[in-house]
Amino acid sequence: MSLWEQIQEAVGAIRSRVNLEPSVAVILGTGLGGFGGEIEGSKALAYAEIPHFPRSTVAGHKGQLVFGRVQGKPAVVMEGRFHVYEGYSAQEVTFPVRVMKALGAETLVVSNAAGGLNADFSAGDLMAITDHVNLMGVNPLIGPNDERLGERFPDMSSPYDPRLMEAALAIARREKIPLRQGVYAAVAGPNLETKAEYRFLRGIGADAVGMSTVPEVLAAVHAKMRVFAVSCITDLCIPETLKPASLEEILKVARKAEPRLTALISRLIEKI
Ligand code: HPA
Repeated sequence: MSLWEQIQEAVGAIRSRVNLEPSVAVILGTGLGGFGGEIEGSKALAYAEIPHFPRSTVAGHKGQLVFGRVQGKPAVVMEGRFHVYEGYSAQEVTFPVRVMKALGAETLVVSNAAGGLNADFSAGDLMAITDHVNLMGVNPLIGPNDERLGERFPDMSSPYDPRLMEAALAIARREKIPLRQGVYAAVAGPNLETKAEYRFLRGIGADAVGMSTVPEVLAAVHAKMRVFAVSCITDLCIPETLKPASLEEILKVARKAEPRLTALISRLIEKI
């Protein structure tokens, strides 16, 4: 069965159970799952109930699509995302994006936890992604191109929508949420990087590094969706002073930043 047919089957199964056409899709990053409280009249579908959706393997990871209204706007929210380091192909990681687009979502809002490479940043900062470098070694657009999903050679001169960025910066100013801007480098993981890799990443112009988001953004831009992406800088990765990373600390920082991230995203959706 072709990718297109798989998407149509997933859409059919969802539409038979959910009576809401989302205009915006949201993907929540590690430790940033509390956005669920912003969704009114929510209806959740477990990934396992949706044909062709990848299966969540990580214990304790929620795996559901939540439909409802955010600030009055019909939305679909992925609680639990898929990562290349879990063993999923880039196609599998991005299947939900393609389904959300086929359901009607024209805008994608993505969040993630990332390591900070810019020495001006602090742990807990939010960073709007202005651009990215794909160092994952994979790409969801490799393979035969189905023109119904997008064009063969999608333009990447401006993958992150400048108008959404402007709106987010205005909201951040008004709500007094400090918001940095920067370039996100995506690596496959799962290991954190070596000092030499951090030096390299800094040298090529990255302000943050993480293991997600870029595949989803590539699929979304391919599908002509408008994208806004934001990183929570959970730890600083400065090679000269690098200490062993603590996953516990990373999750703690993400949880602490979550109310700011939730406020920013829900206000942004209000404006879409
Ligand atoms: N690398 C380093 N630090 C991080 C990452 C990463 O991919 N994600 C969150 N903190």
